Parts: sequence; structure tokens; C-alpha cells
Amino acid sequence: MLIVHGIAELRQILHGWRLAGDRVAFVPTMGNLHAGHLSLIKAARCRADRVVVSIFVNPSQFSAGEDFESYPRTEKEDSEKLHAASVDLLFLPTVSEMYDPQARTVVSVIGLADLHCGAFRPGHFDGVATVVSKLLNIVQPDAAFFGLKDYQQFLIVQTMVHDLNIPVEIIPGETVREDNGLAMSSRNGYLSEQEKLTAAKLYRSLSDARDAVLSKKSSYAEIEGQAQEFLTAAGFHVDYFSICRGHDLMPAKPEDHNLIILAAARLGKTRLIDNIRFSKYSS
Ligand code: PAJ
Repeated sequence: MLIVHGIAELRQILHGWRLAGDRVAFVPTMGNLHAGHLSLIKAARCRADRVVVSIFVNPSQFSAGEDFESYPRTEKEDSEKLHAASVDLLFLPTVSEMYDPQARTVVSVIGLADLHCGAFRPGHFDGVATVVSKLLNIVQPDAAFFGLKDYQQFLIVQTMVHDLNIPVEIIPGETVREDNGLAMSSRNGYLSEQEKLTAAKLYRSLSDARDAVLSKKSSYAEIEGQAQEFLTAAGFHVDYFSICRGHDLMPAKPEDHNLIILAAARLGKTRLIDNIRFSKYSS
């Protein structure tokens, strides 16, 4: 596996691969790799001749007071996992390689970026959209893989790629969970053993809310209220718990069929997000 730090060197290698007719798949990450990341990499491996993974803890997507400094940086273990997963190239840029201090351009997906997590993490999704557009311009892959655990991020990337005519196929990957339902996340490492048990209740609350929606016995507002009470009683501080339309993440109405329930809640110093997608047709 090649490990590349510079954009010029990366471009040169990718140019050679493209001349040889190789199809390139790309998986951007912030590292501290777990089974969720590895499932995206496995899907990428099946779809391309060359797999590129980036690890870059992107400062512009952390708000003031968030965990940019303490975000787990585990490059040695990560590169061993990537090597074992037959990744061809690991792109590991520094902040100064990625960002010109004079840069003035920000990519913002208007409307979507301010909802849900965007309302609690100002500027977060502009940071994500900007760094993903930069990475896509640098790597120029045929396909790029994003997890549905971060559903709002996935929708923002998909919208940005469409709106800006970026020539890449965006491929979603299902959420990988622990046996108890907890969605895998690099931030789960912040949880104590006791908190890990409690954290599994977030997915429980989403599954229960989905069942309640399908049973049609309560209004969406009642279901959201019950879930918030359940989570608060379990020790969470709930940022939001919202039953939404899948295509634009706006509040769902009874006549909408493709739904997603999005939730973000804090447990101690750890912020967890998760979601559940379903169709009312399948009920
Ligand atoms: P990171 O949190 O490292 O996640 C990298 C990719 O892995 C994202 O597409 C994310 O949705 C996916 N992922 C994380 N946990 C997952 C799980 N349990 N199951 C399936 N996929 C999972 O998301 C980011 O980094 C950054 O915002 C990034 C897109 C790299 C831009 O900086």
C-alpha cells in the first residue's frame, strides 16, 4: 500500500492509473478506523481496480469548543487495517497541504446544511462539503463511498455532487452496528463501559419510534415526545429526535411514505447520532 502525503504526488500516481484504464474508488475518512469504515472499503474494493482511502481530521468541520484536538488519531493501527483490506493508496495530507491560509471559498448546500445537526453544529456541514469537494477534485475517483449512519452528510454530498456536476458516482453504505445496536463511530471510544450500555438505547428509541409510526396509533409529535422522554430518563441530553421525509429531511406529514427518523443525543461528553429509514408501504 502506498502512503502519500502530498497532492502533487497523489495526482501523478492517479494519472498513471487512469492512463492504464484503471477504475478508481475513494473512501474519505477521518481515521480511527472501525468496521463501519471497513465495510465501505470492502464495497469499494468490489467496485474498482484501485482503492484510495484518505485520513484527514478536517479542522473546518469542527465548531469552536468541539473535539478537534482530542479526536482520536491512530495512524499506525489504521494503516495496518488498510493494508490488510488491500487498499492501494492511503492519502494522509497535513492541514497545510489541504488548506491555503488565504483560501476564500466555502461550499455550502443551502437549506440542508442548517437542519438537524447543522443547527447544533454551526458551520459543520460547510466544512464537510468544502473538504469533500476538495478531496473529490484531488482524487477524481469514478466512485466515492459514504455511510448512511451520517445520513444528512450523505444527502449533502449527493446534492453537492449533483449541483456542481462533479463527475463521480456517490455510493451509500449501510450502517454497521455493535451486537447491541449501537452504531459504530470513532467517537464511541469516548464512552465509559456503563455509557456504552446506555448508548445502545439510542437505536432502541429509533426502532421503537419506527414501530409506533407504523402502528399509526399516535401522532408524530407524540412519538417524538415519548422518545425524548425515554432518552432523557436513560441519561441522554437530546439535541433532536425528528421524524422526517427521506428525500429532504423536512418534518414528515402523515401522507409521506419514505421516512427517516434522525436523532442526536449527548451522553456525558460524547455526542452520538443515528437514524432509521423505512417506508410506510412495507407495513
Ligand atoms: P468519518 O466519521 O471518519 O466517517 C468516514 C465515513 O465512514 C463516512 O462516510 C461515514 O458515514 C462512514 N461511517 C462512519 N460510521 C459508520 C458506520 N457505523 N457504518 C457505516 N459507515 C460509517 O464522515 C466523516 O469521517 C467526515 O465527515 C468526512 C466525510 C471524511 C469529511 O471530512
